[in-house]
Amino acid sequence: MCDMARSEHHPFRFPVAARYAGMESSPLKDIFALAARKDVVSFAGGIPDPELFALEDVAACYEWVLTHQGHRALQYGVSEGEVELREQAARRLARDLPTDASQIRVTSGSQEGLFVVAQALLEPGDVVLVESPTYLAAVQAFAVHGARMIGVQTDDHGVVPEALDEAIRTHHPRMVYLIPTFQNPTGRTMPLERRQAVADVLQRTDVPLIEDDPYGALSFTGSTWAPIASLPGMSERTLLLNSMSKLMSPGVRIGWIRAEGPILDTLAVAKAAISMQSSVVDQLTVARYLATTDLDAHVARVSAVYRERRDAMATALAPVLPAGAHVTHPDGGMFLWAALGEGYDAQVMLADAVAAGVAYLPGWSFFADHADRSTMRLSFVTHAPAVIEEAVGHLGGVIERHSRA
Ligand SMILES: Cc1ncc(COP(=O)(O)O)c(C=O)c1O
Repeated sequence: MCDMARSEHHPFRFPVAARYAGMESSPLKDIFALAARKDVVSFAGGIPDPELFALEDVAACYEWVLTHQGHRALQYGVSEGEVELREQAARRLARDLPTDASQIRVTSGSQEGLFVVAQALLEPGDVVLVESPTYLAAVQAFAVHGARMIGVQTDDHGVVPEALDEAIRTHHPRMVYLIPTFQNPTGRTMPLERRQAVADVLQRTDVPLIEDDPYGALSFTGSTWAPIASLPGMSERTLLLNSMSKLMSPGVRIGWIRAEGPILDTLAVAKAAISMQSSVVDQLTVARYLATTDLDAHVARVSAVYRERRDAMATALAPVLPAGAHVTHPDGGMFLWAALGEGYDAQVMLADAVAAGVAYLPGWSFFADHADRSTMRLSFVTHAPAVIEEAVGHLGGVIERHSRA
């Protein structure tokens, strides 16, 4: 039998599997492959610098949990999440938004949070409105549930409220997905007036908001932003996702969703269907960490280092970008976004960049539609300033060669 005939009769050729088609060469998987290469300085992934992990504090928390709560920590738990962690999450959130532990659903990172949300809310054919560009793995989590993503116009202040209003009226979405603070991939932040204008649109049109906020605490200016969920009338119509990945450790795989009302039960059922519960030992350890260490002080130290690295990257990029290029200057988070402009294709350039020892993530994959192929996302957090400067210099050579190509 020839290969073609065999694949037609493949036992797993189901419609659901077809939704994964084209994701085999996911840029997300490439990120980790590039990060592992010793000969390449990779700006591709949002990968924290492991030197900045609070290793001793975290180790002490694991030890305490296994010593004092060992039998519970190694047992199954509950789908809603361990109460200690939900209390700590609620305590942090309550600084901006009245929250109690019953309104928290623990997830294995925000990525699972997005999947839980999709499982709970989306049916095949539903439309999800997303920023253009947006976090590509959210698009994937929604896509595998059969949703259709439509990108909404953004500017330097995030999603444009008039464009959002029009897109809602045209496409009747099931939900809107936004990353308002230190956005992935652009690093942009929505100012308060913009948040209010977006909230007004969502309330007027009665569309729920999925607000993803993994980076908000990583501020370089000392100012932090209250979530859109905290604006009047928004808390009951928003699912707010937080994660410990960028603040404490991505390896612990702990995040949570804040919600109100009956959707809390649906989220717990969806979570149970996906993974029963998140690792109990990790939940209890993160709870202990939040209860006994000063996370804000740790994040402030990490942010100070990231700020230096942002400055190093911005300074190194300025002279090597072509005239007319547009680059963001984020006040926090992990990413810088550069649009090189007409005539450049960042995907085509990537092979030359990697050969020159530097990698970035081509921007096209962050667009649900109408991709700008001249764009690239550069994470500034993983490497020291001197390494950044040298690697951006190599990138400059590649850009220069492609400008003449
Ligand atoms: C906007 C956004 N949401 C969610 C995630 C998922 O992160 P995690 O599952 O590690 O919490 C990321 C990771 O980079 C992200 O950038």
